[in-house]
Amino acid sequence: MSETAQLKIGDKTYDLPVIEGSEGEKAIDISKLRDQTGYVTLDIGYKNTGATQSAITFLDGELGILKYRGYPIEQLAAKSSFIEVAYLLIYGELPTEEQLKAFNFDLSHHTLVHEDMKKFFDGFPSKSHPMGQLSSLVCSLSAFYPESLKQNQTPEELNLSIIKVLAKMPTIVSWIYKKSLGHPYIYPQNKYDYVTNFLNMTFGQRTEVVDIDPVIVSAMNTLLILHADHEQNCSTSTVRIVGSSASNIYASVSAGISALWGPLHGGANQEVIEMLQKIQEDGGDTDKWIAKAKDKNDPFRLMGFGHRVYKNFDPRAKIIKKACDDILEKLGIDDEVLEIAKKLEEVALKDPYFIERKLYPNVDFYSGIIYRALGFPTDMFTVLFALGRLPGWIAQWKEMKEHKEPIGRPRQIYTGATNRDYVDIKNR
Ligand code: SDX
Repeated sequence: MSETAQLKIGDKTYDLPVIEGSEGEKAIDISKLRDQTGYVTLDIGYKNTGATQSAITFLDGELGILKYRGYPIEQLAAKSSFIEVAYLLIYGELPTEEQLKAFNFDLSHHTLVHEDMKKFFDGFPSKSHPMGQLSSLVCSLSAFYPESLKQNQTPEELNLSIIKVLAKMPTIVSWIYKKSLGHPYIYPQNKYDYVTNFLNMTFGQRTEVVDIDPVIVSAMNTLLILHADHEQNCSTSTVRIVGSSASNIYASVSAGISALWGPLHGGANQEVIEMLQKIQEDGGDTDKWIAKAKDKNDPFRLMGFGHRVYKNFDPRAKIIKKACDDILEKLGIDDEVLEIAKKLEEVALKDPYFIERKLYPNVDFYSGIIYRALGFPTDMFTVLFALGRLPGWIAQWKEMKEHKEPIGRPRQIYTGATNRDYVDIKNR
């Protein structure tokens, strides 16, 4: 007998079906609530509302668990590669050697962007924020692939648009960086793997190929894996709802990039480093800044701390924190802001304010320190988050279409003026 929930309104009782997921999560199915009762539910920020049923990523915020298609993030970060994880998220299984070879072959043959894209790059002021450029440039890909605008694409057409957006993103990201320096763009080289190709286009000098340090390639793979998906976060929900109107993949991903830009979401990794630098310039007094974060009259927040779902350590933050020490040591870098970050974490985790609110370091708290060590400027950090999150956005967008989900259209409770007649401007 499946479980039901009972809702009593006035003298009527309604039975609502309960849905249980494969990991034991439970939801009350209210999809027929308004028809049955005339009522809708209200849950501003969707803190208690499930938007879909998904088989892609599972996370348990209380226990600090994160799994992609059932594989623990700790194992994938330690043993897999970013492109293998992208395949897993998008197609549901770890690829065989043959499948991975074919996937890499497909990707390596779609890394170029149309030369006319350079006109768009040229149109941006050289110091404009990389996230604004990325969102525009990804959406502009739809101009070159009108077939992606077709509503009922065949599985082959849909897969080709997936390959194209995944393959071209590193080229666009690296060219945004090169443009900010006034350096010439470096073209993708098919002989490189996905991450090495990106690093060569980003840090290569002119057209000469430079040897990319395997420590940097490994660190980049780990960071991109850790950012690859995170179930129904703000930007992924944006990608799904834009895609639910039958918008093409480029427009849907572009919308996700815009949502990720926000400092409360992916933009936090840039905010964290800027916060740590401010604390460093201010003399490194972590107690003073912790007090500011707790002061309700002070708008300052401890960026990189807290999470809508994790009420325990973000498992990604644990992995990145350990990677920080390894990578900085291997690269021979001694970064004072890492010490400030560790001191902030130590003080905050003993402070009742943070303990009561279950505020722990999240994925953004340490990631910027590694990006800095790898040579990226601060305003590129969120673009790197988007590069990592892309396979997750694609997988979620594909799942929404495969499930033939209806267009997303939430309801509301109206609180404005009730009926009134128009008044001519002379009489107002
Ligand atoms: C990401 O959803 C995802 O999965 C996102 C993400 C992903 O992979 O996609 O994990 C990536 O976005 C990580 C989060 C990055 N953002 C930040 O680091 C920004 C700083 N953090 C916060 O702004 C906040 O913690 C949020 C936005 C992350 C979560 O906000 P919520 O769930 O809406 O919680 P809230 O703002 O209502 O805070 C609850 C309480 C409040 O205090 P009270 O009103 O109860 O007294 O905790 C306080 C907040 O003031 N609080 C903080 C704080 N975060 C929450 N106080 C100081 N510093 C902070 N960072």
